[in-house]
Amino acid sequence: MNAIARIGVFDSGVGGLTVLAACMKKLAGCSFYYFGDNAHAPYGNRSEAEITEFVFRGLRRFRRIGVDAAVLACNTATAVCAERARNAFAFPVVGMEPAVRPAAALCRRVLVLATPLTAASRRLERLTASFPDTSFTICGLSGFAGAIERALTCGEPLTISDHLPQGRYDGVVLGCTHYVFFRDEIARFYGCKVFDGGEGTANRLRSLLIQKHKYSLFGTDDHFDPSQNPNICFTKKCKEMRKSRVFFLGNSAKTNKSVFLTNICFKKI
Ligand code: DGL
Repeated sequence: MNAIARIGVFDSGVGGLTVLAACMKKLAGCSFYYFGDNAHAPYGNRSEAEITEFVFRGLRRFRRIGVDAAVLACNTATAVCAERARNAFAFPVVGMEPAVRPAAALCRRVLVLATPLTAASRRLERLTASFPDTSFTICGLSGFAGAIERALTCGEPLTISDHLPQGRYDGVVLGCTHYVFFRDEIARFYGCKVFDGGEGTANRLRSLLIQKHKYSLFGTDDHFDPSQNPNICFTKKCKEMRKSRVFFLGNSAKTNKSVFLTNICFKKI
């Protein structure tokens, strides 16, 4: 079969754009639909019932679009309701997995930074327990994702060091997709390697589409096609958004900003 896959990417706000960039690099030629529920961000301090309701609203949007797969580009949403979402929707739902595996392969003392809900999840507990040779410190940061969301969309000042616990580690796992925007600053703060789950998620999505759905994916690994133009929708308009580095996706996407400055819409859910 030779078809262009449609992929929905969901997050509580802007954090999932870091995952969108990773997916676009691995899946050149697919159509991407990004949905950021920034009217309700941050999710990290909300109840599980609320998060599930918001995530399901987003996934119902994707169902109306007719996506072939959806990515929960949010560790918190994945921890809370990925399993339920997989049972409720006919299309495959790929969740985030904090990059514990690659960190454990290279480091002995690892700090995992995440939202309080992800930090307390059984999922993360099980994942870290499967690498007994590495010592993990799991730290739930209650205000960091929200502060990043506000900094990038409303221009609110942000001092990274106010949010990070002190300590000496040889690896840091970014267990929240928002944190990835500040990967370089966090690496400098701890002076060690930093890992995130964006590329692993993109790889899982890619193999799922190829193996299970027999899609022909145009482009090769790490090929980024700047003519790809994702449809980006947020639930709240923020006037600083278009100026912020959100749409530059750091330098890692090797994209030009105009790609991400078009096709943005705002719709309440
Ligand atoms: N980007 C999110 C995550 O990966 C969400 C943070 C939040 O909304 O609290 O966990």
